[in-house]
Amino acid sequence: MNKQKIIIDCDPGHDDAIALLVAYYSDQLDLIGVSTCAGNQTIDKTSKNADNLLRFFGSSIKVAKGETDPIKRKVKTCPEIHGESGLDGYDFPNYKEEYDSRPAYQFIIDAVLANKDIIVVTTGPMSNLALAILKKPEITKNIKEIVLMGGSTTEGNITPVAEFNILVDPEAADICFKAGVPMRMLGLNVTRKILVTDEVVKEAEKIGTRGSDLFVKLMKVFNENQRKFFGLEYGPLHDPATIISMVNSKVFKFEPMHVEIDTTDTKFLGKTRCSASKPYNCDVAVSVNLDEYWAEVYKHLRRCN
Ligand code: RIB
Ligand code: CA
Repeated sequence: MNKQKIIIDCDPGHDDAIALLVAYYSDQLDLIGVSTCAGNQTIDKTSKNADNLLRFFGSSIKVAKGETDPIKRKVKTCPEIHGESGLDGYDFPNYKEEYDSRPAYQFIIDAVLANKDIIVVTTGPMSNLALAILKKPEITKNIKEIVLMGGSTTEGNITPVAEFNILVDPEAADICFKAGVPMRMLGLNVTRKILVTDEVVKEAEKIGTRGSDLFVKLMKVFNENQRKFFGLEYGPLHDPATIISMVNSKVFKFEPMHVEIDTTDTKFLGKTRCSASKPYNCDVAVSVNLDEYWAEVYKHLRRCN
């Protein structure tokens, strides 16, 4: 069976890490490249984390590092949740860091031009993809779909209305949503239901692979920080929703909507305005089957040994 070619632009980040793992070990997806953006931590830290994860998986992919800041704003990081390293909780071996010589936007341009019908996944601020589209608009013809974790049909997590990935670079999200490429949005309205409960951690512990050990150690820190910072009992595992929505159609239900990004410097900055009465431009996740979601996570943790 032909695997679907994808690239992931991410800001690992505990949940990004599990998204990368599921993508790498999927038998339906061909992860041909990874780029990083500043978000959960600075670009150097998210890039080191992505590099560590790919070495841990045994991948030869070289991470393409993104910009230090969003398109027109200063980056907001989130050490409260992801820690000083951006991926606190697991001590990786001292892998030799080796990066793609191209900046992330150039890697994205090259990967898309070389692979018609590729899917671009973003699990952080959309700065790199937006830059790639600005510099080479014709790449949009080759992109089968942009699948993003971001936004919300209801409330935000950083402000009452704005979700982190969109809020950090609202201009970038605006460029992507207006690029004329099919969009699939997995927002907080569904991802906040995906909680790393004690039962989930216990199930993962039973698996006994390197991947499950990584998951358990990372999630323990992730949950502690979510409790301290957001007052949540368990952390929501947002980013793997992008990958799982592609490998198992039973997990999420989507509705066609019009999504536009608020880029005004008001209290609405970063809001994803979702409407069913304006022209369609995005499939928006509206529900999640949690049993199926976690079954997919466990399946891929088993493969990571
Ligand atoms: O709002 C949640 C999103 O912001 C996730 O992608 C998390 O990793 C952070 O990037
Ligand atoms: Ca992320």
